[in-house]
Amino acid sequence: MRGLRADDTTALYDISLKTGDAAGGDASSLYDDPELLGHLWLGAYLALEPELVRVVEDESGLPVGFVVAALDTVRFEQLCETEWWPSLRERYRRPHASAQPWSLDEQAMAAIHRPERTEILLARQYPSHLHVALLPEVQGLGWGRTLIEWVCEELALRGSDGVHLGVDEGNHRAIGFYRHLGFTEVHGFEGGVVFGCRF
Ligand SMILES: CC(C)(COP(=O)(O)OP(=O)(O)OC[C@H]1O[C@@H](n2cnc3c(N)ncnc32)[C@H](O)[C@@H]1OP(=O)(O)O)[C@@H](O)C(=O)NCCC(=O)NCCS
Repeated sequence: MRGLRADDTTALYDISLKTGDAAGGDASSLYDDPELLGHLWLGAYLALEPELVRVVEDESGLPVGFVVAALDTVRFEQLCETEWWPSLRERYRRPHASAQPWSLDEQAMAAIHRPERTEILLARQYPSHLHVALLPEVQGLGWGRTLIEWVCEELALRGSDGVHLGVDEGNHRAIGFYRHLGFTEVHGFEGGVVFGCRF
């Protein structure tokens, strides 16, 4: 396990895609543009909070897993509005409402133009949030726990009171994993559940 390197981005985006479907499986066949999931769920953390990134690498040094986090979710979402979304909004057009139902690519493009904002009550109780992903060949070996424990310790050291994250309701493996690690279900949302952990 190591910190982020400048040349990790492509491999980390690839992990994001290969673990990006609703069950935590490979989403490669679901998207025409393979970078969209990485732009939505990963890139901003690499760019804006690189000190909270941890990478699991294989014997050749290639990333096979990661955890990323934002220390202060409200501040992070504000920063994304000036430092992350603008260039992507120039690159990806906003899909027309009249063209619904949207493809997954179009849904991702719509989210780039109008990202979800975290509810203020959730952010008050659990100010930080995280994302974790491991390729199938390194799942079930203890790396998920190691990454979560590392990032929670790091967030607490930096003054955070707690962390939250969202999981799709179809991702049974991740739901069992977070319950096992002692996270509590804070509330549900359409299609998923939010877990939280107070430090
Ligand atoms: C979910 C994920 C991060 C878990 O990481 P992992 O490395 O497979 O899990 P670990 O091997 O570290 O498991 C840690 C502990 O959780 C337990 N555990 C894991 N999955 C579990 C489950 N579904 N139910 C109950 N316990 C589970 C393990 O037995 C282990 O217990 P122990 O440490 O007390 O012995 C990983 O499978 C993954 O990246 N999946 C794809 C992407 C994804 O879904 N990310 C999360 C999106 S929110």
